[in-house]
Amino acid sequence: MKGNDDVLIEFGDDLLTHIEEMDKQHMRLVALLNNVYELLKEGKREEALELFKKELLSYVEHHLSEEERFMEKIGYPELDKHKKTHDTFRREIYNLGPYIESGDPKAFRQALSYAWGWLYTHIAKTDKKYAIYAKEKGLI
Ligand SMILES: [Fe+2]
Ligand SMILES: [Fe+2]
Repeated sequence: MKGNDDVLIEFGDDLLTHIEEMDKQHMRLVALLNNVYELLKEGKREEALELFKKELLSYVEHHLSEEERFMEKIGYPELDKHKKTHDTFRREIYNLGPYIESGDPKAFRQALSYAWGWLYTHIAKTDKKYAIYAKEKGLI
């Protein structure tokens, strides 16, 4: 994980599952998180809030359900366990809301870095496992 004033969070190769669609979605998630932060930093609280509520939250739902559908399709044995960790992710993201509403970019950045730490570990460890499974089974 890297962070500075220009790029809050960076999507590195270590996060690639090498399943094209999932990688695309993970990158979009990270980009949206960064965009919300950038807007807040520029003092555009209303825009940040709108992006968060209208795009980020629905994109999170979109990604999680697409990923769950993918795991179902490949008959992934750890699907139920994985689904439970997605609920934690939903909570992490929803928890960012009040920080955006407060309009304090510093507080938001702190909350986001916590959520990002969680997301990073999830992609790097948990998501990668279904990719390994799919590859081992010759399903992708
Ligand atoms: Fe996941
Ligand atoms: Fe994911």
